[in-house]
Amino acid sequence: MKEYNICLLGGDGIGPEVTDEAVKVMNAVGKKYDMKFNFTKALIGGCAYEKYGVPLPDETLEIAKKSDAVLLGAVGDWKYDTLPPAVRPEKALLGIRKGLNLFANLRPATVFDELISSSTLKPEIVQGVDVMIVRELTGDVYFGEPKGVEVKDGKKVGYNNMIYWEDEVRRIAKIAFETAMLRNKKLCSVDKANVLDVSRLWREVVLEVAKDYPEVELSHLYVDNAAMQLIRDPKQFDVIVTGNIFGDILSDEASMLTGSLGMLPSASLSADGPGMFEPIHGSAPDIKNQNIANPIATILSAGMLLKYGLKNSQANDDIENAVKKVLKAGYRTKDIMSEGMKEVGTKEMGDLIVKNL
Ligand code: IPM
Ligand code: MG
Repeated sequence: MKEYNICLLGGDGIGPEVTDEAVKVMNAVGKKYDMKFNFTKALIGGCAYEKYGVPLPDETLEIAKKSDAVLLGAVGDWKYDTLPPAVRPEKALLGIRKGLNLFANLRPATVFDELISSSTLKPEIVQGVDVMIVRELTGDVYFGEPKGVEVKDGKKVGYNNMIYWEDEVRRIAKIAFETAMLRNKKLCSVDKANVLDVSRLWREVVLEVAKDYPEVELSHLYVDNAAMQLIRDPKQFDVIVTGNIFGDILSDEASMLTGSLGMLPSASLSADGPGMFEPIHGSAPDIKNQNIANPIATILSAGMLLKYGLKNSQANDDIENAVKKVLKAGYRTKDIMSEGMKEVGTKEMGDLIVKNL
């Protein structure tokens, strides 16, 4: 039996409820593969702020660093909207990404046949969509210096710095090419090289890395065009690689192809330390503790944890298949409910997935 230490960060809102279901599923699938998970809970986000006055306590980061992988629910609540930026829950996310050096963010957008009708796009456009967005996560305008708001010549001015070092681009490009090699060998790099210097460097480095991956068909799109192509004809994409801010925006757009934010997982990886796995949806405080949140995105994130974090692809396949079976059998949480289907709660959905493993 192999043991793994998992840092469990439920966070705020529906976070703890959905991670509870993912834990159930992990324990069940773990038995099959002789894996044992030791979960250590820690606080992050608003709940951490309440207790420690900071959204990312040192203790939490330490537990995360010492773990084999981190499973996160979600952070944030409207009640913290008026806090100073430095202690807002979102700051904890940026802090843990930087603290664990999670530079590679994988955001798959996969359309489940059973849920095609939940998308706002025409079925023939979204059926079969399977895009992997590889978003750089620790650089760009999110972290660039100098930044701030100050008064100059009697006027307020606010600024951030969109900046990439060549090695930052190189390492994310490598991950993207490797990802493409394991899929359909198509990679689209998204930038704004017609306007931005930082994007010209981005493109130059991506082209350089491409030399090591002759089998991958590489294309480049400007981000405005990419945003358009993603809803016009999403099936043209296999893997997309882009910087932090463009990836933030495009991954939200891609998620809507699938119709529900409640279905999409993500993985954030570093070069050597533990990865962090979380649903792409937020904390949805309006529906917390009502047993109506959709746990599937978090359960699929646990699948990514097993695949990318603990290198057990089969366990991930099992989880994905179990989710598909449950959807096929007509079970739905409220957010993806449609006529003729059977509505179930958060816990019931978790149990059904366990049963179908
Ligand atoms: C995301 C979120 C975060 C981001 C926020 C909450 C800091 O939008 O993970 O996409 O901008 O990266
Ligand atoms: Mg976002």
